[in-house]
Amino acid sequence: MTHPIIVTSALLYANGPLHFGHLAGAYLPADVYVRYLRMKREDVLFICGSDEYGVAITLSADMAGRSFQEHVDYFHHLNQKLFLKMDISFDHYSRTTWSGHAKTVQEFFLELYEKGFIEEKTENHLYSPEDQRFLADRYVVGICPHCGYEQARGDECQKCGASYEATDLKNPRSKMSDAPLILKPSKHWYYRFDLFQQRLLEWLEKKDWKPSVVNLSKQYIRELHARSITRDLDWGIPVPLPEAAGKVLYVWFDAPIGYISATKEWAELQHDPDLWKKYWLNPQAELIHFIGKDNIPFHTIFFPATLMGLDTAYKTVDQVPANEFFLLEGKQFSKSEGWYVDLSTFLETFTADQIRYYLVANAPENADSDFSWREFQARCNNELLAKFGNFVHRVLVFAQQRYQGKIPPITLHDEGDMQFMENMHRCIDAIDGAYAHFSLRKAAQIVMELAQIGNVYFDMKKPWVLAKDLSNKHLLDTTVGLCLECVKTLAFISAPMIPSSAQKIWAMLGFETNLCDTSWEEAKKNLPVHQQMTSPKPLFVKIEDSVIQVELDKLYHQNK
Ligand code: 2FM
Ligand code: ZN
Repeated sequence: MTHPIIVTSALLYANGPLHFGHLAGAYLPADVYVRYLRMKREDVLFICGSDEYGVAITLSADMAGRSFQEHVDYFHHLNQKLFLKMDISFDHYSRTTWSGHAKTVQEFFLELYEKGFIEEKTENHLYSPEDQRFLADRYVVGICPHCGYEQARGDECQKCGASYEATDLKNPRSKMSDAPLILKPSKHWYYRFDLFQQRLLEWLEKKDWKPSVVNLSKQYIRELHARSITRDLDWGIPVPLPEAAGKVLYVWFDAPIGYISATKEWAELQHDPDLWKKYWLNPQAELIHFIGKDNIPFHTIFFPATLMGLDTAYKTVDQVPANEFFLLEGKQFSKSEGWYVDLSTFLETFTADQIRYYLVANAPENADSDFSWREFQARCNNELLAKFGNFVHRVLVFAQQRYQGKIPPITLHDEGDMQFMENMHRCIDAIDGAYAHFSLRKAAQIVMELAQIGNVYFDMKKPWVLAKDLSNKHLLDTTVGLCLECVKTLAFISAPMIPSSAQKIWAMLGFETNLCDTSWEEAKKNLPVHQQMTSPKPLFVKIEDSVIQVELDKLYHQNK
């Protein structure tokens, strides 16, 4: 009996379009993992949604001249469509402005408040005399107290990743008017993270996370103190206390609770409103947060500490596959600076599987990685097309011509055949381990390794020569049969990363089912002999230099 697994990807701010950087960090690795788990017949639920409150939204809505609600509506729907086009297979894509979210968050707040984990304090906050208002974190820029970066944001430093209070910044200024800020008292509510220090340390000891994640988390635990979880902002979930009129909850307090409220919304849509409890209130369940590295402390310290304060035993995170940053030709993606690739336009020329493969093969697992147009072209042409696509196509075309598309029986095994079969099984087992351990790059390598093995076997056996002599019928049957087994194996093992191409192969092999609904167990079973295949079509087209040049010109022109 498998245990329930809940996989989350960081809730995406509804303030801009989804881009490769987001996909590579939190969404594609999760999708590949979830697709793999589904084929392994695990009970997995994949939850995500739009993060719709906080200054990241208000700032960007102000700049776009839209109301906050219009802004999040626009990007929520746009991103939901982009995720679909990218074949990201969420079980539910929610949004933090749905009413059930605010209800859950306010209930959590009140319970924590009543239990004494939230205290109120009047302290100095940054106030802009020019704008006549308190300025919440991201409306503030200043010098990072840790690394000295001069344009650091009010909540966290984009350069060194440190997270702090806006009042810790040196030389704070208004992001809108650049005016200097003064300190003025304001009442806020603070969560007593410090009370959870020991419990968090003991809890963290049992985790087998990446050293970078454990070390950063330990550092945060050492420095734990009460942190403000409310803001002076007119967009957010109201603080549910009569004396807190006009104050809202800090987005990093509400957003992670969004994973829970989104699961509740999903359960309601299943007409089984209590179903969310199977994942969140079940000690046997497993919780996995896919995030980018800038989100680590929020998922490994602050959210777990919030849950630890509640009487109900909610699941806290078990695995944190945190990825490094993914850049564009060496620089961070930035729509405002014109340094981006528009995903909708991209998908008019290229396919979701091409970019999925590229992002998997270059996954920022242990170091920052990069989208480069030339490398994208090379990976698509030399690997997806020349190794993988070419093997599949030549085998299917040969079987179509010589066998009228009917799968021949495998009757004879020589040493080369045995090895070929063993290699297929070895690759299935190896990729199983790679997927299970979130090793996407490794998984991509294994797919290409098997495609290469298939190509070498096909060339070595020379079926076009065997076909000239009728007495070779058994040998030819076995050669073509084994190559088709390899094609099927490639479809299975690549299905989590390039689902659409894998499904095409599956259909060309004559299956009418969905490969993604097929059990991983089937990967080692032989194809049904004499099954009628459909006529083969190439999986990928070559990306010409001229097409890449157009994209490079666009990027550098946009950036002028
Ligand atoms: O950093 C971000 O993009 C946030 N929107 C991630 C939120 S993750 C979660 F906690 F909701
Ligand atoms: Zn810094």
